Amino acid sequence: MSLKSNPKLELHLHLEGAAPPAFIRGLAKEKHIDISGIFDARGGYAYTDFWHFLKIYEAATSVLQSPMDFHRLTLAVLEESAANGVIYTEMFISPDFCGGRDLGAWREYLHAMTEAAEQAERDLGITMRGIVTAIRHFGPDKARETARCAAETAGRFITGFGMGGDEKICEPKDFAWSFDMAREAGLGITVHAGEWRGPEHIRDTLTALRPSRLGHGVRAIEDLALVDELAEQGIVLEVCPGSNIVLGLYPDWRAHPIGQLYDRGVKVTVSTDDPPFFHTSMAREWDRLADALEWDDGVFQTLNRTALDAAFCDADTRATLA
Ligand code: ADE
Ligand code: ZN
Repeated sequence: MSLKSNPKLELHLHLEGAAPPAFIRGLAKEKHIDISGIFDARGGYAYTDFWHFLKIYEAATSVLQSPMDFHRLTLAVLEESAANGVIYTEMFISPDFCGGRDLGAWREYLHAMTEAAEQAERDLGITMRGIVTAIRHFGPDKARETARCAAETAGRFITGFGMGGDEKICEPKDFAWSFDMAREAGLGITVHAGEWRGPEHIRDTLTALRPSRLGHGVRAIEDLALVDELAEQGIVLEVCPGSNIVLGLYPDWRAHPIGQLYDRGVKVTVSTDDPPFFHTSMAREWDRLADALEWDDGVFQTLNRTALDAAFCDADTRATLA
């Protein structure tokens, strides 16, 4: 079965993590940067585990050095998403990689990405919104600067604030100042949690940072009382099954807990995270779920409806997507 042409909404996609290896290789060649060590024999990204993945991710990102590079990247990623039937996508973008969190530089990078998004919306019919993202292992001080960039540029395009990176570094409360600032600026809040740490950490994240959505959140399944709390509170999970399987959280699609979470009433959505790193696409995620869980069209429509309701966009945009 192929669900490639079905319209889809994606809430969890890292812009740099979506960069095709050929795109990164091309930029490295143009700039005479040697990053050959990050690729495997077939030209894909090579890494051994999640922490190595973060290093390779940052090495690949090091060739993205100007607003024009990010303009090109944004277009390339949106083209790929649109080819997979995606009509609405929220992308994590990081001031850390766009001028080192300097507000003036960030505005220039943002302008370039916004122009690319507008072009893609006109030409390909895909709508993009940006979630400014702190990188957890860069620490709370840099997260504050990132939150400042987010708050200063909140608007029609920048609609959310989030945090990815190494979940084992620091505690949620260490980032409360940044998340409070972003919330006060009117941004939607999502946090990666429940990928590399378990239920207690999910609880601490909900208490300290008050997100409406969690990136991953799948390890809530280890505590069914927490699963029920997530369902009751309407916390939306941005589940990325292909990412979880490649990174070794679960051995295969059948063992992935998304079906159990869905059946127990949790609001789940499906995303790709960093598609070329995990050899996936939105069409592949849907196809594998249809095969492994025997999900039918009605379930996929529910996923889309949940994503639409949880999207960090204004009412007008939501209406055009409904
Ligand atoms: N950044 C990019 N992908 C990530 C993931 N799966 N977890 C945490 N941070 C990330
Ligand atoms: Zn992620």
